[in-house]
Amino acid sequence: MKPTVFSGVQPSGIPTIGNYIGAMKGFVDLQDDYDTTYCIVNQHAITVYQDPKTLSQSTRMIAALYVAIGLDPNKSIIFIQSDVPAHAQAAWLVLCQTGLGELERMTQFKDKAQKQELVSAGLLSYPALMVADIVLYDAQYIPVGEDQKQHLELTRNFVDRFNNRYGKDLLVKPEPMIPSSGGRILSLQDPTSKMSKSDVNTRGFISMLDEPKTIIKKIKSAVTDSVGEVNYDKENQAAISNLLDIYSALSGRSIDDLVNEYHSAGYGKFKSDVADQVVAVLEPIQQKYYRLIDNQELTDILIDGAKAANETATRTLSRMERAIGLTYKPSLYV
Ligand code: TYM
Repeated sequence: MKPTVFSGVQPSGIPTIGNYIGAMKGFVDLQDDYDTTYCIVNQHAITVYQDPKTLSQSTRMIAALYVAIGLDPNKSIIFIQSDVPAHAQAAWLVLCQTGLGELERMTQFKDKAQKQELVSAGLLSYPALMVADIVLYDAQYIPVGEDQKQHLELTRNFVDRFNNRYGKDLLVKPEPMIPSSGGRILSLQDPTSKMSKSDVNTRGFISMLDEPKTIIKKIKSAVTDSVGEVNYDKENQAAISNLLDIYSALSGRSIDDLVNEYHSAGYGKFKSDVADQVVAVLEPIQQKYYRLIDNQELTDILIDGAKAANETATRTLSRMERAIGLTYKPSLYV
């Protein structure tokens, strides 16, 4: 049996090259050697207000992007979270075994809460839903960017607690898989914060559907520094190091190799080559995306994915319920 992988992306906007480099690209690389399940986590997105029409469009958009980047429905299960009721059901079980303090400590919660007029209880509970997503598929490895590390730690603690209370090895304890470089792509306008698909400053990110000329413009106007040399120095040259991370992840070339070539080439030439590389990777993805987005083929993939996901998730949910005692006659359910 292959080791199991689960991950997801929120339809809270168009994914950026940060999402692609930090997580989605890895989804594709894992398909052959792992048993992979990838979700469009639309129930996570509603922890902050989403316009209903936009949310439903974005949900399908992520699904189309999954396939466009190379996820193969014959190798990976691709599905929408709200098509599998077990996620919300299991999240309740997780919430009842999670300390309020644990949730309040989450840095993503604190960051996001600051930006909201209404801080919903869902925003606080969000990591419990993520725990549910992961444990339902007995996932061993979770490809994510660095910003999800704390949520993964919470998941691991939850699994320990659940297994201690209810039975050894009931749930699988997952490991994060974070890329060694590119796990945290920074905003092009503010290299102290991460690139985010919901950034109000659209020049800070490159969306996976940005047109080539927009990509070139955004990279040309990315902030740099006054050093004038291309070095990989995250402390003193964060913006240039960020562009190196992007270039390296998208070209497969090592950072050292790139620094050698561009050290004294000037920022203009460096940026122009980074932009060409981003366009070279995104253009074919975009062509495939536009062929898929309104196609019945995509709907069929999601229907099949939901069926397969429902089977696994329902089985794990009832295992959890039985362990907790949420059955009046356990023998009927075995
Ligand atoms: P989301 O939708 O914010 O981001 C999707 C994935 O992209 C990674 N990422 C980044 N990586 C590098 N640089 C960046 N600037 C950057 N921005 C985002 C994220 O780390 C993530 O891997 N909570 C998750 C979704 C989720 C999930 C799950 C993930 C829900 N349930 C279960 C794994 C397993 C999130 O908000 O991702």
